[in-house]
Amino acid sequence: MSIQNVMVIGAGQMGSGIAQVCAQAGFNVKLNDMKQEAYDRGIANITKNLSRNVEKGRMTEDEKSQVLERIQSSLDLKDAHDVDIVIEAAVENMEIKSTIFKTLDEVAPKHAILASNTSSLPITEIAAATTRPEQVIGMHFMNPVPVMKLVEIIRGLATTDEVYQAVEDMTVKLSKTPVEVNDFPGFVSNRILMPMINEAIFTLQEGVATKEAIDEVMKLGMNHPMGPLQLADFIGLDTCLYIMEVLHDGFGDSKYRPSPLLRQYVKAGWLGKKTGRGFYEYN
Ligand code: CAA
Repeated sequence: MSIQNVMVIGAGQMGSGIAQVCAQAGFNVKLNDMKQEAYDRGIANITKNLSRNVEKGRMTEDEKSQVLERIQSSLDLKDAHDVDIVIEAAVENMEIKSTIFKTLDEVAPKHAILASNTSSLPITEIAAATTRPEQVIGMHFMNPVPVMKLVEIIRGLATTDEVYQAVEDMTVKLSKTPVEVNDFPGFVSNRILMPMINEAIFTLQEGVATKEAIDEVMKLGMNHPMGPLQLADFIGLDTCLYIMEVLHDGFGDSKYRPSPLLRQYVKAGWLGKKTGRGFYEYN
C-alpha cells in the first residue's frame, strides 16, 4: 500500500501543522477547509514556520518554495477523489466527524485510508459511518505538530494489519515516532495527561497553591516543559473539558469528573491562549 497523495481536513492549528509536516516529507497535500479564510490562515501559519526554518539555516528558500508548492487548497471534500489517505483534523464532534467520514467513504478511492486526528473520540464509532471500517484508523498528532515527535496510532476494532503498517510507515517518513494503541477512551496520551491537568485545576480550586506555584512545581520538580495550567491554556480549556467528559462517560468512573473550576472558566469563555484569557492572560 503506497501513500503519495494526502488530504488533510481542517486548516486550523493541528490540520495546518499536519499538512506542513506531510509536505516537508515530500507528500502531495490537499489542505481542505470549508472556508477560504481558514485555508489562508493555515497557509500563513505554515509559511511562518517554514520561514523560521530558513532563518535558522535548516532549509533554503528554494526548499521552502517546493514545500509550499506541494500544498494545494481544497474547499470541497470531493477533492479526495484521487488521494491515498485522508487525515481528518476537524472539530471534536462525533456528528460532524461521522458526516465527514460518510462523505469521504463515498468520494475517496476504494484503496484510500481514512484517518482521524481525534484526541479522544472512538475510532470504531467514526469507522462505523463508513463501508470500509477496516481502512479507518486514528493518527493522533501532538501540538505543536512540527515540533512534537509522537504520533499515537489508534487501531479501531476492524482496522487491518496492512492499514496499520501503511500508517506506521508514513509516520516514520514524517520523521515522527509511531506508538500503537488500542481504541479506549482518551487512548493513552489523554487518559494520562488530562486527569493530571484536571487535578492541577482541583489543586488551584482548593487553594492549595497559586497557579504560578502549581506550574512551577511541575516544571522544576518534574522537568515538564510547561506547567499543567499553562499547558491547559495552550491546548484550550474547552478541549480539556471535552476530553474529561469523554473519559467520565466512557469509563463511568468518578475519578474522571471534570473540575467545577474548569467548567466555570469554559462557561465564562476563558478558553486559554486562543481567547486571550485562561488561567493566564495573553495579548
Ligand atoms: N509551531 C511550530 N513551532 C513551534 C511552535 C508552534 N506552535 N511553538 C514553538 N515552536 C518551536 C519554536 O520555533 C522553537 O524552534 P527553534 O528551536 O527552531 O527555535 C522550538 O519550538 C522551541 O520553542 P520556544 O523556544 O519558543 O519555547 P519552548 O522551548 O518553551 O518550547 C514547546 C515550546 C515545544 C511548545 C514546549 O513548551 C513544549 O514542549 N510544551 C509542551 C507541549 C505539549 O505537551 N504538547 C502536547 C499537548 S497535548 C496534545 O497535543 C494532544 C491533545 O490531544 C490535547
